[in-house]
Amino acid sequence: MAASPLRVAVVPGDGIGVEVIAEAVKALTAVADAAGKEVRLTPFDWGAERYLRTGVTLPPGCLELLQEGFDAILLGAMGDPRVPDNKHAADILLGLRFKLDLYVNYRPVRLFHERLCPLKGAKPEDVDFVVFRENTEGLYVMMGGHFKKDTPDEVATEIDLNTRKGVERILRHAFEHAKARGRTRLVMADKSNVLIHAHELWLRVFQAMAAQYPGIEARHLYVDNLALQMVREPRQFQVIVTSNMFGDIVTDLAAGLQGGLGMAASGNIHPGQVSLFEPVHGSSPALAGKNVANPMGAILTAGLLLEHLGWAEEAARIESAVRWAVESERTTSDIGGSLGTREVGDAIEARLRGSPVG
Ligand code: IPM
Ligand code: MN
Repeated sequence: MAASPLRVAVVPGDGIGVEVIAEAVKALTAVADAAGKEVRLTPFDWGAERYLRTGVTLPPGCLELLQEGFDAILLGAMGDPRVPDNKHAADILLGLRFKLDLYVNYRPVRLFHERLCPLKGAKPEDVDFVVFRENTEGLYVMMGGHFKKDTPDEVATEIDLNTRKGVERILRHAFEHAKARGRTRLVMADKSNVLIHAHELWLRVFQAMAAQYPGIEARHLYVDNLALQMVREPRQFQVIVTSNMFGDIVTDLAAGLQGGLGMAASGNIHPGQVSLFEPVHGSSPALAGKNVANPMGAILTAGLLLEHLGWAEEAARIESAVRWAVESERTTSDIGGSLGTREVGDAIEARLRGSPVG
């Protein structure tokens, strides 16, 4: 019996999102065809253009539609200079993270070739870890306010919201990932020396949970020290887990170690429920429409989507096709090559189909 088709909602979004998602879709289709399986892709035009035209960011009923009709969502990027406050991006990207309760932000960090790493002498085996970023709480909840706005006495607050349930579930996920993948070192990074309430909760829950995983060396680092250590000796890291805002920051640093934002992939996951996959980079308006954006982050993201849905073999094929393209210098200029977005995508597609590669 043929495996049932995967149902993927595709939201290219804005700017270079459109271009890189086109290449990710080519890779998805190619890897499925080669395996005799089916991925059913349904495009959605959510993004700046539609918002400017209609005032709608996330259309009514879309959550139910995604939850009932799809296995996963593949999203490009949100952000457009014509929407200076980025309202549509907040509504769509953060909205989906919150409303679909996608509490795990999974960001694997792999170096495919030493020439991509800015660290002197760093080899691919030195940069191979995953970051789990809490994705539904912390400083991202947009609670807070202004008082005496637009006066010299103005006050602005932003609440860092942390719940025991929220902290427990992301830490649990990170420990279980380490256990399942045979990873023996896990770091939890916080700032509990200063955030003596919110991050003291993180530290307490972490220490209690670490005791349940005797096979895993669980280490606590302050996040400032983590940033230093990631640059000095990334090799020590296998699994990192941290809060929403700190995870946002350290994953850009981590992307730098693997060749820049163009190489970084991510999944916004709620295990067992419809989850959202997006490259870490943004919409880069300045690069949009020029066929110069690196599609590898988006293609690797498509691989994460497949891995998440149980297509392990196809996911591994996508990763190794990207690795091959990097090794054979079929890349865009951000990582030293001379190909365009489409040409990189064509090469990876051909590799996945087993057809002759240009
Ligand atoms: C990311 C991005 C987003 C974030 C922005 C676009 C809201 O930087 O996914 O890392 O801060 O989470
Ligand atoms: Mn970010």
